[in-house]
Amino acid sequence: MLEARLIIEGGKRIEGEIQVHGAKNSSLPVLAAAFLCDGTSVIHNCPALSDSYAATRILGSLGCKCKREGGSVIVDSSNADGCTVSDCLMREMRSSIVFLGAILGRTGRCRLSFPGGCELGPRPIDLHLSALKKLGVKIVEDHGVLDCTAGQRPSRCDITLSLPSVGATENIMLYSSLGVGETVIYNAAREPEISDLAGFLNSCGACVQGAGSSTIVINGVSELHGCEYSVMPDRIVAATYMGAAAATGGELILSGVNPADMYSCMSVFSEMGCGVYPYTDKIFINAKKPLKAVRTVRTMPYPGFPTDCQPIVMAALCRASGTSMIVENIFENRFMAVDELMRMGADIKAEGRVAVIEGVKSLSGAQVRAADLRAGAALVIAALGAEGTTSVSNIHFIDRGYESIETALKSVGADIKRV
Ligand code: EPZ
Repeated sequence: MLEARLIIEGGKRIEGEIQVHGAKNSSLPVLAAAFLCDGTSVIHNCPALSDSYAATRILGSLGCKCKREGGSVIVDSSNADGCTVSDCLMREMRSSIVFLGAILGRTGRCRLSFPGGCELGPRPIDLHLSALKKLGVKIVEDHGVLDCTAGQRPSRCDITLSLPSVGATENIMLYSSLGVGETVIYNAAREPEISDLAGFLNSCGACVQGAGSSTIVINGVSELHGCEYSVMPDRIVAATYMGAAAATGGELILSGVNPADMYSCMSVFSEMGCGVYPYTDKIFINAKKPLKAVRTVRTMPYPGFPTDCQPIVMAALCRASGTSMIVENIFENRFMAVDELMRMGADIKAEGRVAVIEGVKSLSGAQVRAADLRAGAALVIAALGAEGTTSVSNIHFIDRGYESIETALKSVGADIKRV
């Protein structure tokens, strides 16, 4: 059967309001945390994405009972005692590595295969493993399978991360929440998704302090109960739709967002010449004037400009007048949209971690393919502002992070359909 594609007729102004769905990168660790609870958790605003379904399939394979009711996922972990994640489930989603800390925390054992590399380059987990070893976990690696056994946990453990890894911070929080002992993470990731995970864990009776700062203190507790929790809005999805308004000279209200999570994104769109106005749980953006190039965009750990927004901003800058430079400091291979954008007429020179974009008058529709989640979203953004028809294939990548991107964009004037 032919792979689904998105067909986009460019040139339509984006105008209207989009309700932004829950954050993929918060819902995944929160679903993993539900495994730690002895009882039932109700997780609201859980996005209906292929990655979220993969996470509930993993929970199911561990003995949890999961069901989705509208935007909520109910996880009953009362009799869950599994400790193995099958290779095919691990391959389905590399961020399944976040289950390692939760499974070990609850059962003391865990067997799972090394997460495959992904489109962004090798995705090492050395920081995850060295932290867990410091916490007394014995890890045997044989033929790509990690066989882990919890050992004597130190009463106090100080872990300094050489880089503020989001996944490593989450795995340490998940493993340290249950049990006896105090764990301190220095140079922890500060992403809002970390604070959201801490919010869920503390609602379940955990004792996690300092999330959102570089130093997080976790005091283990003897048991965690289920809770009812609402996942934060997805700041990357919000930024993606801001890109759609910017790329089409449109105007958009994004509702259900936390502007406080998005200052570095909002400032780049303002530098492009967009009007960006944050309110309590909304952002209003308009692109009345032709876009201007942005001298330098650098991706950084939070609160710096997020790497996940880099391809989106690149797509909007293709038609901005002047020369823009993007420096990708987080992943070593995150210019996957460049070749496809050039097929649409973009003028981009990418070398190592730097990409230089010369604004062009117009882009033209083409047959393009998504190489990863955010590069795929970037192609959609470019297509909206291009002349003519664009066909985007490999859209399963896009469905990992966006709930029906075509429905959201169609609702604000885009001519887009899934075939
Ligand atoms: C999370 O990935 C997100 N994924 C990514 O979003 C996001 O791009 C990334 O954080 C950075 O913000 C989820 O939350 C599911 P990291 P993660 O550990 O945890 C290196 C998307 O598009 N590193 O902070 O894997 C690593 O190679 C996805 O939604 C090590 O060297 O990110 C990378 O260069 C893409 N050793 C850098 O750190 C380690 O042990 C940042 O990785 C771990 C990471």
